[in-house]
Parts: sequence; C-alpha cells; structure tokens
Amino acid sequence: MEAETLKVRIKLFRDKKSYEVEYIYKKKFLDERPMILDVLLQAQEEKIDDLSFRYGCRARNCGICTVDINGKPRLACRARVKADDLISPLSTLPVIKDLIVKRDGIPRQMIGYNKIPSKNNLNVEADVPYHNLTACIECYACLDGCPLHKKNNLDIKDNNNAYPFGNPFSFLKLQRLYIDPLTPEEEKRGIIQKAKSLGLETYRREYKDLKIKCGVGINLKDEVIKPLLEVAFGDQIEKKNK
Ligand code: SF4
Ligand code: FES
Repeated sequence: MEAETLKVRIKLFRDKKSYEVEYIYKKKFLDERPMILDVLLQAQEEKIDDLSFRYGCRARNCGICTVDINGKPRLACRARVKADDLISPLSTLPVIKDLIVKRDGIPRQMIGYNKIPSKNNLNVEADVPYHNLTACIECYACLDGCPLHKKNNLDIKDNNNAYPFGNPFSFLKLQRLYIDPLTPEEEKRGIIQKAKSLGLETYRREYKDLKIKCGVGINLKDEVIKPLLEVAFGDQIEKKNK
C-alpha cells in the first residue's frame, strides 16, 4: 500500500557547521510525488521555521531554486523527491545558510562585456541558435561537472574577482553575445579573448569527455562550447555530443 509519508534528509548549514536533519513529509494525497520545493515549504511550516532556501516563480522560469538532490543539481520547483533522498545546497558555490548559496560571483565574471547598444530586446533578426540560448534561466546547474569551475577557489572573498575560471553559463553568455546581430563586429575579438581568458582551452582538451548538463535542456556542448572553440582555435568538432 502507498505510504502516507515520505522521509527525506535535509542538510543545514549554520554557525559554520553543516549537519543533516530528517523530515517526514506528510503527503497531501496518497500517490503524491512531491517536488523538492513542496517538501521544503512543509518542513519550514511544520518543523524548521527558520529553514532558509530560495524560490520565486515555482514554474522553471527564475532559476533561483536550484539545490542538490543526492549530490546532483536540480530545480527544487521541478524535481520530485523519493524516500531517503538528501536535499543539500549546491556544492558548486559557497553556502551562506542552509540551502542558500552565494550566486553573485558568477554573473560578475561578465561585467563590462555586453557592449550592445540597447534597442531591440526581442532581437527578431537573430537566428535560431541565438534564441535557443535565451532559454537560459541562470540556475547554475551546469557548474556541476565543469572542469573549469572546479579550479575556482570557493573561499575567495573578493566579490568582483571571485572566479577566474569560467563555466558553461559564462560561455553561454559570451556565445550569445558573439552571435547577436546587434553586437558590433569590432567587439567580437574581445568576446573571444574573454572566453580564452576564462580558460576555454581546457574545454578544447577535455571536449570529448565533457559531462555538463543544462537545467533546462540547452545543448551546451554543441551550441555553446563547440562554436566558441571553432571560432577561437579553428577547431572542427563533429556535432554529436550532448
Ligand atoms: S546554461 Fe542551463 S544550466 Fe547553465 S545556468 Fe543556464 S539554464 Fe542553468
Ligand atoms: S522557483 Fe523559479 S525556477 Fe524554481
């Protein structure tokens, strides 16, 4: 018979220490398969009233609810929970409290790189590959398994220069700028230089074994890394890897 409850573990981070607590989720109906966010909201309501986590749209649009489940990044508003799952903060960014991580070091990598005069935000002249990349919701799930982001020291406190090495998200931003019809030609060289300075060369060496996954299904290898490598180094990479 279907159980009426679901036992999960939640990793908390407080006073510089992390520890696990158990929470018994009470299902709202017998065959409910709750999302991570349902569990967190109920746990906050019923047991840990100061449990800290982020969420916004609850509809896979804002990207801020990402947490790890059994060590893998998932959107809390979209990923379902099974008995004995462990919900923990993203392991790829510094933890502030409980499930909240410090996110600002990642977008700061791109400060100063958008030199496009703002006029047509919908960018109707752009081709399909450009619009595919606009699906990014900045959830940072793709930091997991990235050989470049792994080289960054998460303890660094300098907000503006926290992460010298890039990640699939930062390269997506650069690739989107590169193929944006509104980007002036003279800026494109600088975009490729920026990609190189963030360590693009590492992806070149590790392309075949690169295991990066986008939270909303963008094909990061074929649509971001491959075209950047081709422009930056003249590489020709067969289109087949996801
Ligand atoms: S590229 Fe995908 S995984 Fe990475 S931040 Fe954007 S939506 Fe999230
Ligand atoms: S709450 Fe917005 S994507 Fe999950």
